[in-house]
Amino acid sequence: MLIAAVLVLIVLGSLLFHFLSPWWWTPIASNWGYIDTTLVVTFWITGAVFTAVVLFVAYCLLRFRHRPGHRAAYEPENRRLELVLTVGTAVGVAAMLAPGLVVWAQFVQVPDDAAEVEVVGQQWQWSYRLPGEDGRLGRADTRLITPENPLGISPHDPSGQDDVIVEAANLHLPVGKPVKVLLRSVDVLHDFYVPEFRAKMDMIPGAVTYFWFTPTQTGTFEILCAELCGVGHSFMRGFVVVDTEQDYQAWLGQQTSFASLAAGSARADAAP
Ligand code: CUA
Repeated sequence: MLIAAVLVLIVLGSLLFHFLSPWWWTPIASNWGYIDTTLVVTFWITGAVFTAVVLFVAYCLLRFRHRPGHRAAYEPENRRLELVLTVGTAVGVAAMLAPGLVVWAQFVQVPDDAAEVEVVGQQWQWSYRLPGEDGRLGRADTRLITPENPLGISPHDPSGQDDVIVEAANLHLPVGKPVKVLLRSVDVLHDFYVPEFRAKMDMIPGAVTYFWFTPTQTGTFEILCAELCGVGHSFMRGFVVVDTEQDYQAWLGQQTSFASLAAGSARADAAP
């Protein structure tokens, strides 16, 4: 009896916590409303099943509790019940997975007009690279990394010379323009995650992963690393600033290209 009451309270408490909790998603600032829809579908299905199963257990505890003179009936098989449970479970699982498949297909199908931005993770900071005037990122290789070439850009690739390097500072993006985010890691697994964009992906040493999104709100959004990457993991933070086109161009004009970074360090080497 007591256990049944506790189970009912667990269900009520969980529902109240879900609907009254002050902790909810950050307001969305990208085009990925579908990802929220997918999560809501999962919440409803798992919530309904959780409520039904726990309440059913509470009911059984009451209905079939020990009473003198009553005997349990042994029922080894119930084909109808098994069929209903199997089909019901299959439909529920499919309903949770299907929206995810649709959203995932969109998540990795980058629109043709998306601008490329590279995000480089390393223990424990974020750096970025934007293609320069030519609109193309130069080749890069972790083995080319030196203090003067922090992102390992190939000095022999002409398309890399005008690449804009943003090291350990905020990344700016123009609002309303689709961005293809190319993810690279210098050392271990990291994961580029901005909660407001509803988009994240692992960064894998030796590979380039990607996703795309369109920022829909101007503002400053915090970046979290969402992959345990060593003792500094929790401090691996940064900010994406989504600007109006005008502010974005002003910021872009102040950034340093790979060529001028290399020339600057060559001058510093030559100085007495
Ligand atoms: Cu990088 Cu955790």
